[in-house]
Amino acid sequence: MDKLVIYGPTRLKGEVTISGAKNAAVAILPATLLVNGISIIENIPNISDVKLSCTILEKLGAKVNWIANNKVEIDTRNITSSNTPLDITSKFRASYYLVGSLLGRCGSAEVGLPGGCNLGARPIDQHIKGFESLGAKVEVSQGKITAKAKKLVGTSIYMDIVSVGATINVMLASVLAEGTTTIDNAAKEPHIVDVANFLNTMGADIRGAGTDVIKINGVKELKGNYTYSVVPDQIEAGTFMLAAIASRGDIVIKNCIPEHLDCITAKIFEIGGNVEDLGDSIHVWTNKRPGRAIVKTLPYPGFPTDMQPQIGVALSIADGTSIINESIWESRFQYTAELNKMGAHITAQGKSAVFEGVKNLTGAPVYATDLRAGAALIIAGIIANGETHLYNLDHIDRGYENIEDKFRSLGAKIQRVSE
Ligand code: UD1
Repeated sequence: MDKLVIYGPTRLKGEVTISGAKNAAVAILPATLLVNGISIIENIPNISDVKLSCTILEKLGAKVNWIANNKVEIDTRNITSSNTPLDITSKFRASYYLVGSLLGRCGSAEVGLPGGCNLGARPIDQHIKGFESLGAKVEVSQGKITAKAKKLVGTSIYMDIVSVGATINVMLASVLAEGTTTIDNAAKEPHIVDVANFLNTMGADIRGAGTDVIKINGVKELKGNYTYSVVPDQIEAGTFMLAAIASRGDIVIKNCIPEHLDCITAKIFEIGGNVEDLGDSIHVWTNKRPGRAIVKTLPYPGFPTDMQPQIGVALSIADGTSIINESIWESRFQYTAELNKMGAHITAQGKSAVFEGVKNLTGAPVYATDLRAGAALIIAGIIANGETHLYNLDHIDRGYENIEDKFRSLGAKIQRVSE
């Protein structure tokens, strides 16, 4: 078992380059199934969820060729099956995108019920509602989703809940459907826009992505032989922004889209940090202890739930008492018990937590309880006095490329050690 050994405290300083967005990449890879041709995807993060997605594509008959570390060529001219390997699809959340993609490509899909971070109940009823509205028959039993459609026909779909996954999945299933599909109350995250841009590059006709009404005019076929570059990762950039603030550091974060980070920048200003927009990079710094804040997570453009643990670390050492209300996931405060082992004073109950700021954290053995919790605990280890041992790195490796190298380049004393 690997662990990260982190010696703190360190004030992070320097430049870091952000990778392509995990949550866009894990939708774009299955979306290549919609074309009978060759796709070249650049700026793709080299993380374990991406590798799993590629393995699944290979098992379905695609040829996957890594041209460079962050560039992959996928040939989907010879798809031989719409039955995915259930043991692999059950390992990560985004495998649900195979249902929309395979329905579009083959008219049928069999996919293991998605796994991923344990953040509480993660229903997929809105995905199913979308597929059924388009004319598919969907069954969930024996740990798998089976979907079949003789023909998919465009229609109006109102999402009862703003869902990133359901919005993308319905886009995927309706790109090749007959007629027009309208998604009302759609999610607006940057990776929704990125997946729509990607599909439009292949010849789809999607309008309105980034607003709450998306219209998809079905096309007969998509065209291969194109190159697409994945959008920079909003959450990875936000993670380094909060690392700068929590460590009283000074970081230039390169290859990001500052506009996507406005929701995080606003909170950083509130807690006394500095942020400067440099066009395609962002400069974040402070030399003060963070101030207190009240944070509520919301769908984009609200404060992202995937940034909640990272701002939680900054608030754990803030001057004053802060409150975080989590409105997306039921169990997103598991990391607070780990931070308390490091000397934080956090009381979490249900979907709220009270952070009584302490002056310092102290190194301790801690466990990444999920992906973003893991990133937050790295920041905690960097700002804490002494030695932190962080376990359960599988969670972190699912979504962050070379994370310890990136933190090390900013001055962090961090090593991956095999036990
Ligand atoms: C995606 C992200 C995840 C992020 C989340 C919210 C990926 C691979 N994962 O997850 O990192 O935390 O968005 O920004 O992109 N819901 C339903 N029924 C459904 C679908 C969702 O009730 O059919 C609920 C969920 O329980 C949750 C809320 O809607 O309370 C938002 O979930 P959703 O946006 O779908 O999250 P994911 O797509 O799973």
